[in-house]
Amino acid sequence: MRIIDIIRKKRDGAELSREELAMVVEGYTRGDVPDYQVAAFLMAVCFQSLTDSELADLTELYVQSGTCVDLSDLPAAKIDKHSTGGVGDKTSLVLAPLVAAAGYAVPMISGRGLGHTGGTLDKLESIPGFNTKLTIDQFKETVRTTGCAMIGQTEELVPADRKIYALRDATGTVESIPLISASIMSKKLAEGVDALLLDVKIGSGAFMKKQTDARRLAHSMVMIGRRMGKRVMALLTDMDQPLGNAIGNALEVMEAVETLKGKGPADLTELCLELAARMITLADPERGIEGAREQARTLLADGSALNKFRQVIQAQGGDPEIVEAYDRLPTASEVYAMKSPRAGYVARIDAEVMGTAAMLLGAGRELIDSAIDPAVGIVVERKVGEQVQFDEPLCTLYYNDNARLKDAIEAVEEAFRISNAAPETRPLIYEIIQ
Ligand code: URA
Repeated sequence: MRIIDIIRKKRDGAELSREELAMVVEGYTRGDVPDYQVAAFLMAVCFQSLTDSELADLTELYVQSGTCVDLSDLPAAKIDKHSTGGVGDKTSLVLAPLVAAAGYAVPMISGRGLGHTGGTLDKLESIPGFNTKLTIDQFKETVRTTGCAMIGQTEELVPADRKIYALRDATGTVESIPLISASIMSKKLAEGVDALLLDVKIGSGAFMKKQTDARRLAHSMVMIGRRMGKRVMALLTDMDQPLGNAIGNALEVMEAVETLKGKGPADLTELCLELAARMITLADPERGIEGAREQARTLLADGSALNKFRQVIQAQGGDPEIVEAYDRLPTASEVYAMKSPRAGYVARIDAEVMGTAAMLLGAGRELIDSAIDPAVGIVVERKVGEQVQFDEPLCTLYYNDNARLKDAIEAVEEAFRISNAAPETRPLIYEIIQ
């Protein structure tokens, strides 16, 4: 069969065999199949979707396009979490040490922020000296000795996804749920985990704005994981307002450390504890959820999770003293308090607009290669549902460059809505899919 016949077959809605999918994925990764044919194939997938069997095959072919991290000699169960991303989502910084402190291995490969969304790597790199570019061997060694390591994507892992993602970005085919599922799951499955928790965000700051789309994505990713012999669960969680209070890299590290000290914002703490408990039960299916929740609470309360974070920072070349001395983190020189124009209740804080405001200050990237300023960002002073008086601060902007302030202020003014009556509260966790 030729590539053109495979494109026609998918275009007409027929199911492709593993061999046919391999011709596309392997041929493209090798450079034998041209961009225009793969672009046509991807567009056919956008319109016709993929069956479960095709999707599992496609994901496996992505994984097999590169090397996989082999952690099979590690006795502890290996578990990771993936979040579809959002604004103020620093849960990975809390969860990785927390779950490692519970005795499980957490090999975490994360991404960078783009547009209004933040990225775990950028947050970690705001810690002076922290190296997110370990080799695979160093990564494995750090997981072995510390229980956890956090790095970025390497060249050897899932090259097919890197090449196909770039093509999707240029051909309007990013939005296809099966293509998103294969892309995310291939990168996570190449980490060598036994189990994976998916945090699929919903709301204005999320990749998926609607619950129906988030649910479809979650089902699709859980299905792929199952077919590949992994224990996978997805939680659909809120990203309509920023998570916690801090948005911006060093500010988020401070908030994650406060959370590890048991002094974090209520929503972030609640979500981290629940995600940690779910990770523990996925890592060890014999464990009950109540016992896992209790263990997660204890590890926060007795300082074990914080101590593990110090160890991880040290193992990856960072300055562990930042957990006590926040002034060792990058700090912005200027501060602006955005005051409430009237008394009332905070009815909405549009997460996407807040993320964009932080990006405008320099905390995020407009383009994939834009430089970021680790010190800047925004701290939300009043969350949705809280009361505010006239002229009291709604949020604080931390910045270094005066020229960036005006646009950021305009954005935060647009993000907040104040109402006379208390708004209906949205749940933090909408659904569990397993
Ligand atoms: N994130 C990914 O890694 N892949 C996608 O396709 C979309 C979001």
